Amino acid sequence: MTNMMLETAKGIDYKPSLQKPAQANPVPADREGAVAAKMGVYDLDLYYKDFQALKKVNLEFPENRVTALIGPSGCGKSTLLKSLNRMNDLVEGCRIEGEITLDGADTRRAIDVNSLRRRVGMVFQQPNPFPMSIYDNIAFGPRTHGIKGRSDLDEVVERSLRDAAIWDELKDRLKKNALGLSGGQQQRLCIARALAVRPEVLLMDEATSALDPISTAKIEELVGELKTRYTVIMVTHNMLQALRVSDKTSFFLLGEMIEAGPTEDVFTNPQDERTADYVAGRFG
Ligand SMILES: Nc1ncnc2c1ncn2[C@@H]1O[C@H](COP(=O)(O)OP(=O)(O)OP(=O)(O)O)[C@@H](O)[C@H]1O
Ligand SMILES: [Mg+2]
Repeated sequence: MTNMMLETAKGIDYKPSLQKPAQANPVPADREGAVAAKMGVYDLDLYYKDFQALKKVNLEFPENRVTALIGPSGCGKSTLLKSLNRMNDLVEGCRIEGEITLDGADTRRAIDVNSLRRRVGMVFQQPNPFPMSIYDNIAFGPRTHGIKGRSDLDEVVERSLRDAAIWDELKDRLKKNALGLSGGQQQRLCIARALAVRPEVLLMDEATSALDPISTAKIEELVGELKTRYTVIMVTHNMLQALRVSDKTSFFLLGEMIEAGPTEDVFTNPQDERTADYVAGRFG
C-alpha cells in the first residue's frame, strides 16, 4: 500500500451513521460484561447483477466473541462474510447498499481496502496454502507489509504457528513444502498465515468442513483461544459446532437475517418458527 493511499484513507471526513444498534441484535451484556460491536452491517442490500443475495441485513459482531452464521445452502452466508472484507469488490456486477463498519468506521468510505483486508483476515473452506515452504507461507503477508529482517520474520513465523496451535508439529520442517502437509495441518497453517499480519477480525467460511473430527476439534479449541484476542465470525453447517464454539448465532434464509442472539437462546428458545425448524434439522 502506498503512503498516499493511506493518507487518503485517513483524510476522509467520515461521520458515523445514526443507525440504531438495537436493530442489529447486539449481544446483550454476558457473563464477561457488555461487549462493543467490532463490526456491524446496517440495512445491507447486496445484488449480483439483478439477483438480490442479501436483503436489509442488520447485524453486529461483538468484539472478542465468536459469531456463527448459519442457514441453508444459498442463503447468503458466504456473501455476507465476503462483504465484510470487500472480497465482493472483485465480483463483476456485485453492488452493495447500506453500511458496513469496522470500529464504527465505514469500510467502503473511511478505510483503505488494503488496510481493511489486513485488519479483517479470512480462512476458506478448502485449505489453500501457497506452493512454497511452510516458512514462506507465513512470512508472505508480513513481507508484503515491509517486514524484511530475518529475525523479525522468524519471530512472526513462530508466533503465528504457535497461535494456530501447530508450532510443535511443524517447527522441525519449516523449509518443507506446505503442500506436503495433511488437510488438517494445511488448514491450521492457513489460519497461522491469516494471523501473521495481526488481523483484528478473523472470518472463517466453513473452515472445518473438509476435515476429520480430530482436526476439527483442534480448530474449534483454537477458535475458543483466539477469541480472547480476535473477533471471529464463522460460517458453519455444523449445528453442534455453532453451539460449542460461538457466543452469538445468526440464522439466514433466502438472503434475509431471520434471527440473531446469544447462541444458547437461538438454539434452545428460538423466536422464529423457521429458526426452530432449521436448528432442529427439519429443513436445510
Ligand atoms: N458471484 C456470484 N454471482 C452471482 N450469484 C452469486 C455469486 N455468488 C453467490 N451467488 C448467489 O448468491 C446466493 C448466496 O450465495 P452464497 O454463496 O452467499 O450462499 P451460502 O449461504 O454461502 O451457501 P453455501 O452454504 O452453499 O455455501 C446464491 O443464490 C448464489 O447462487
Ligand atoms: Mg458459502
